[in-house]
Amino acid sequence: MALYTRQAFFHALDFQMYDKIFAEYIFTISHGNFEMAGSASSSIKKILKHMEMGKAFIRRVCIACYEVEMNMVIHSIGGKIRLEILPNGVTIIAEDFGPGIPDIEKALKDGFSTASKEIISKGFGAGRGFSNIKLNSDRFNINSQVGKGTRLELLFIFRKE
Ligand SMILES: Nc1ncnc2c1ncn2[C@@H]1O[C@H](COP(=O)(O)OP(=O)(O)OP(=O)(O)O)[C@@H](O)[C@H]1O
Ligand SMILES: [Mg+2]
Repeated sequence: MALYTRQAFFHALDFQMYDKIFAEYIFTISHGNFEMAGSASSSIKKILKHMEMGKAFIRRVCIACYEVEMNMVIHSIGGKIRLEILPNGVTIIAEDFGPGIPDIEKALKDGFSTASKEIISKGFGAGRGFSNIKLNSDRFNINSQVGKGTRLELLFIFRKE
């Protein structure tokens, strides 16, 4: 998979200072585990609250993170979510092991979903996840390869609240 390296990601933003990571937390996400679904996002919420980050900031990160986590639970075979605490914000890096997204442009369109009837009956599959992720993050980057997996990088920058 062509990875968008950390350096390239931040270079695009011209924020070299973000190379410094104060802390990182890694969460394992399993496919189809609806009992555990959302637990990485709620742990991240606790961590950010503990660090006394602003309410609106935490809300943005957690909304996006929840969508990322649910996509991994529903659409992927499982993977990992990494939270990095940076000097001026946080990043969420989600990487799964497949099946990958055949047409990213289509998948990103609001309302597009491949969710099954069973998933829809659980209240998911409106095809709004990616729109929500984009709306709440300051930088959104996706790489996906069929048979290999999907990698998402999200950046959230602290703002005055
Ligand atoms: N990690 C992933 N691996 C494989 N396919 C994915 C992954 N994440 C998303 N997709 C694909 O992209 C589509 C759109 O995702 P999006 O989150 O926008 O909508 P959804 O998950 O189908 O519905 P909603 O998020 O509203 O419950 C999914 O239906 C799925 O086909
Ligand atoms: Mg989704």
